Amino acid sequence: MTIDPQSPDLALGVIGTGTMGRGIAQIAAAGGVSVRLYDTRDGAAEEASAFVARMLRRAAEKGGMTEGAAESAIARLDIVDGLDAMAGAGVVVEAIVEELEAKKRLFAELETIVSDDCILASNTSSLSVTAIAADCERPERVAGWHFFNPVPLLKVVEVVDGLLTEPWVGDVLDAVARRCGHRPVRAKDSPGFLVNHAGRGLNTEGLRIVQEGIAQPRDVDDILREGGTRFRMGPFELMDTTGLDVSGVVMESIYRQFYEEPRFRPVPIARQRMAAGLYGRKTGRGFYAYEDGGKAAAPAPAIPEAAPAPVWVSPADPDGQAAVMSAIADAAEIESGASPDPGTLCIVTPTGSDATTAALDQGLPPERTVAVDTAFGLDGRRTVMTTPVTEPRWRDLAHALLAADGTPVTVIGDSPGFVAQRVVATIVNIGCDIAQQGIATPGDIDAAVELGLAYPRGPIAWGDYLGPSRVLAILEALHGFYRDPRYRPSPWLIRRAKIGVPLATVAR
Ligand SMILES: NC(=O)c1ccc[n+]([C@@H]2O[C@H](COP(=O)([O-])OP(=O)(O)OC[C@H]3O[C@@H](n4cnc5c(N)ncnc54)[C@H](O)[C@@H]3O)[C@@H](O)[C@H]2O)c1
Repeated sequence: MTIDPQSPDLALGVIGTGTMGRGIAQIAAAGGVSVRLYDTRDGAAEEASAFVARMLRRAAEKGGMTEGAAESAIARLDIVDGLDAMAGAGVVVEAIVEELEAKKRLFAELETIVSDDCILASNTSSLSVTAIAADCERPERVAGWHFFNPVPLLKVVEVVDGLLTEPWVGDVLDAVARRCGHRPVRAKDSPGFLVNHAGRGLNTEGLRIVQEGIAQPRDVDDILREGGTRFRMGPFELMDTTGLDVSGVVMESIYRQFYEEPRFRPVPIARQRMAAGLYGRKTGRGFYAYEDGGKAAAPAPAIPEAAPAPVWVSPADPDGQAAVMSAIADAAEIESGASPDPGTLCIVTPTGSDATTAALDQGLPPERTVAVDTAFGLDGRRTVMTTPVTEPRWRDLAHALLAADGTPVTVIGDSPGFVAQRVVATIVNIGCDIAQQGIATPGDIDAAVELGLAYPRGPIAWGDYLGPSRVLAILEALHGFYRDPRYRPSPWLIRRAKIGVPLATVAR
């Protein structure tokens, strides 16, 4: 490595000064790096420079940096009028149009200008870094440097090694990113890199649940946001925010790029909604309706009136039994005994199974049985699952008892793994397979997902929170029920669950 990432003289070329280029310029200038801004559109680099200056001064006003630091950063911005000005830069990053040929042409031209050890980095979000580098004289100095929008706020960047990228290149980009206040995560070139690959599970499994008729989009979002999983946004809110015109295309593209890997298979309802133009916030209607820029309010369903009756909670899962009994203790007459008397509500707390399977396996009457998800605790929104023949009276009683202390309840149709268990198990499984393929380390997978997607935990950490054998049990139950290879557990998960070590365990 001949580039010193800490050098006060380090110069970064930014080609393409739109949304992303200007964000990268801002954090680099603030990190003490000199920035050369170039854009083919007349006036674009000037606009970007003025924008960055405004942002830096605003940051100073808000106390994020001193006025002196902001002015020094602004002084580090240089507008240049040709690629020739990139000679002498240590790193050049492109954030131009997302077209393979345009990026290849740009790098070929840059190679005639920059020094041999100058790094050529691409901010591409979906193209192969290896393909961008393919026609370069020195593909070993080309890497992905994938920032997220808005760059100054989303403080994570994927440093992506193409097939021929030399390790020092990623090391320099890693160090420059840290200098600019960002957390680099290292990934091998593969479809979706890290964040877009690891983020598949939430949307596709949410859609799968709705497609099957288990729950409505709002129910899925409410459960994942307000239940024990505490996602900041549910999958349908997220798709409405990004716009299905964007996230739907990414969903289809990643599925194809992985040769129709069933784990990433989208569902027809997404494509139909794209065809109808129901993109989300930007069109005023998506999975939700929008009024005055906000989600149209929907009244919370009333807590049903229910005739009282004793409740029997299955001891098959002692932790689940204890959690349910404690949640309803003040409202319910709880029946003890090895099996339920006639005229009692039966509650089961399965891991991975649906209510029907759990009821029949335990010899309980499916008409009087409901299941409650206790995998993530019962402090937040509670999920009650019915069998196809659960009588409304017992469903309503379960709902009323679980809501009696003011905690919201969502009732869903029969589903192996409820909503939260199957969504989280899917996310863990995809994360494990990213580790298995050596695309990134468990630590970087989690950091990418926590910082890039704002999940409360990364996939590996989620798996270790639930316990690898529990996640394996959920996936095996899903796999056994649907006979769909989408749910086949990753070898990474199977082996660590069998040995009994955390999912963060890396082979020696
Ligand atoms: N916008 C995002 O959310 C986002 C996130 C991550 C990565 N990306 C990627 O970053 C890149 C840029 O995206 P953006 O949203 O900033 O686009 P943008 O349209 O806002 O900006 C692109 C800029 O590049 C300029 N340009 C186009 N061709 C050029 C060339 N050959 N040489 C110099 N300048 C050229 C355009 O004039 C424009 O100013 C794309 O590869 C995109 O996939 C975008």
